[in-house]
Parts: sequence; C-alpha cells; structure tokens
Amino acid sequence: MGNVHLIEHPLVQHKLTLMRKKEASTNSFRRLLNELAMLMAYEVTRDMQVQDIEIETPLEKMTAKVIDGKKLVFVSILRAGGGILDGMLSVVPGARVGHIGLYRDPKTLTAVEYYFKMPQHMHDRDVIVVDPMLATGNSAIAAVDRLKELGPKSIKFVCLLTCPEGIKALQTAHPDVPIYTAAIDRQLNDHGYILPGLGDAGDRIFGTK
Ligand code: URA
Repeated sequence: MGNVHLIEHPLVQHKLTLMRKKEASTNSFRRLLNELAMLMAYEVTRDMQVQDIEIETPLEKMTAKVIDGKKLVFVSILRAGGGILDGMLSVVPGARVGHIGLYRDPKTLTAVEYYFKMPQHMHDRDVIVVDPMLATGNSAIAAVDRLKELGPKSIKFVCLLTCPEGIKALQTAHPDVPIYTAAIDRQLNDHGYILPGLGDAGDRIFGTK
C-alpha cells in the first residue's frame, strides 16, 4: 500500500496491545495513547525542515539546528483526536492547533461537520491531522476536503489503527495524503467498527461507556 507508513517500533506495538485489551482502564488507555502519540510524533515529523541558528554553549559558539514548531498545525478530529493531540503537543509544544468537529451519522456512517476552527495563514503551514481510528474513512476524507480549501503546504494523516477499507477510501479520495498508523487490522464490521480493533476510541479515552 503506497503512502502508508506502518510504525512497527516495538514500543509502539507493545503499548497498542495494552490499549486493545478490554480490561484496560480509562486511565491507562489515556496514558498509553498519550505515550503512543509522542512516539508517533517522532515518526511523522521525521522530514520536518530544520534551520541553523547561532548559539553559545558554556564552552563556545556553534551553529545548531532547530525546527519552527509554529509552522506545524495539529488538526484534531473531535472528539477522539484529542487523545493523540495531547501527546503530540508534548513533543512539539510550539505547534498550532486546529479542531474539526465531525460526527458519524449512525445510519449512513457519513461524516457531518459541526465545528471548524483553524489557525490563520494555513497556506504557510504543514498540517498533521490526528484521529485514533481510520475506519470507513468518511471523517478523514471530510476533514481533508475542508482543509484543502485553505491550501496548506502539506497534509499528513495520523491514526493509531486502520483497516484496508479505511486506507482505500482515504487514498482514493486523497492519494497525496500519507497515512501514518501503528496497525492495519483485518476489516470493518457492519457498524463501521474496526476488527479486532480496540472498540470505540472516544468512549475508551473519556470513559463514556
Ligand atoms: N471509531 C472507533 O472509535 N472505533 C472503531 O473501531 C471505528 C471507528
């Protein structure tokens, strides 16, 4: 599958396994998601531009590299995206943040937008969209459709888990958007849940079920 980055690092896989377990508490699920997001941030920002600045160590002057975190926008798809957002922000604290509120119509499984708030000057920024589950792909496609209207420099999509159906849908609609994921599971069920998956990510993060 082109343009899909499967993050197979042992730490990522280990934490994901713990999160999948049905007995994982809300507290540990949230903590693990946070840690996983930090590790995934490492992968997804690998090609970020760096610039040279002059600094002084206690011993001498040197030229050293820094990133411009402000050029990066993490766009969280509400509400489950917040779980990944926190971890990513702890690694790139200078990043800007956008939110897209989308809910899945339970009958049609299509995405309905109820909120959209982005930083200014999006054409100058690289966007990383975060949502733990890329399932039908409908929310991801709707989010990327809307973001492209603002003309950002680039868009990447980060999820914890996906399935062949979700990848196919997003790649068909937006072949230019790379997908970063910790696992590609077997399939979707009739309700749009990923199997074997980890259940409803939002409910598990917020303890709402
Ligand atoms: N959203 C979830 O939270 N879980 C799934 O399995 C699919 C979509």
